[in-house]
Amino acid sequence: MSDEPAIEAVGLRKTYGPATVLDGIDLRVPKGSVFALLGPNGAGKTTTVRILATLTRPDGGSARVAGHDVVTQARQVRRAISLTGQYAAVDELQTGTENLRMMARLRRLPRARARERAAELLERFELTEAGGRRVAGYSGGMRRRLDLACGLVTDPEVIFLDEPTTGLDPRSRRAMWDLVAELAAGGVTVLLTTQYLEEADRLADRIALLDNGRIVAEGTATELKEQVNASRLDLTMTDAPTFDAAAHALRDRVIYLDSTRRVLGVSTDGSAAHIRALLDEIDPTRTTVERFAVRDTTLDDVFLALTGQIKETTGV
Ligand SMILES: Nc1ncnc2c1ncn2[C@@H]1O[C@H](COP(=O)(O)OP(=O)(O)OP(=O)(O)O)[C@@H](O)[C@H]1O
Ligand SMILES: [Mg+2]
Repeated sequence: MSDEPAIEAVGLRKTYGPATVLDGIDLRVPKGSVFALLGPNGAGKTTTVRILATLTRPDGGSARVAGHDVVTQARQVRRAISLTGQYAAVDELQTGTENLRMMARLRRLPRARARERAAELLERFELTEAGGRRVAGYSGGMRRRLDLACGLVTDPEVIFLDEPTTGLDPRSRRAMWDLVAELAAGGVTVLLTTQYLEEADRLADRIALLDNGRIVAEGTATELKEQVNASRLDLTMTDAPTFDAAAHALRDRVIYLDSTRRVLGVSTDGSAAHIRALLDEIDPTRTTVERFAVRDTTLDDVFLALTGQIKETTGV
């Protein structure tokens, strides 16, 4: 019983009219771990989170969160989780302190305890000084911190964070990362969504790549990187026509593309033999490749290779 995962989803499906938004999502998130759902706009991240947080009903499949079924035991699930949405949900006209106290009261904390808890959370999220001010005057980072604090008034077992750092400056982003790491160190299970590979790489024990309502890859950052070669060969082509021709010839093998700089990247093991073979293949006349560079594969490359996003940007 105790090794039951904090989150388990099997074959989750969701459709809106004719559109299939989730097409059979399986997830397994061990207790106390951080799991990242990574995907481009419209991949289905928010829909997945909303189903797991009991706000949306799936059309198929099932999910258990903190040991309870999200459809038939929604009340128990809600008691065990907190959800911080993609858009901060705090009340602009109230102060930080008022927001937290209200949230604590909604979560049925007695008045005195609600005050105490609000003060604790303000302190922990470095908002004590701002606590007496209206949220309308807060920065984006302060709002996000307050939003997250609001979700923590009752020590949830599982925390859902939908794009917690979107729109934050680098400093606030780093502060949010520290908070998530701290929560995880305290034994809480965190499922977060992000469009930032670096964020998933840094924070998450495991990552699922979501694209078009399907999980196209799942694993640790290292495992995902191993799914493509260790290196990337970047070729700068001499002009637009040779660039287009090479992109077309390589098609699915292109994992990086920058048409303004006429650079395209292909996966390689980095060996001299392979690089020489690639160059010969792409530029048999030795006239169309102007320069080349070999670099380490990033999670970005994996993402582009696996989601096929590269095709959208080029039309090849
Ligand atoms: N209530 C709804 N009615 C109709 N379509 C919806 C509804 N909610 C979501 N969708 C569609 O489902 C798809 C997935 O949406 P979702 O919000 O889950 O994506 P996302 O991965 O969170 O994207 P983003 O990165 O932009 O937040 C989109 O095509 C969206 O238009
Ligand atoms: Mg979303």
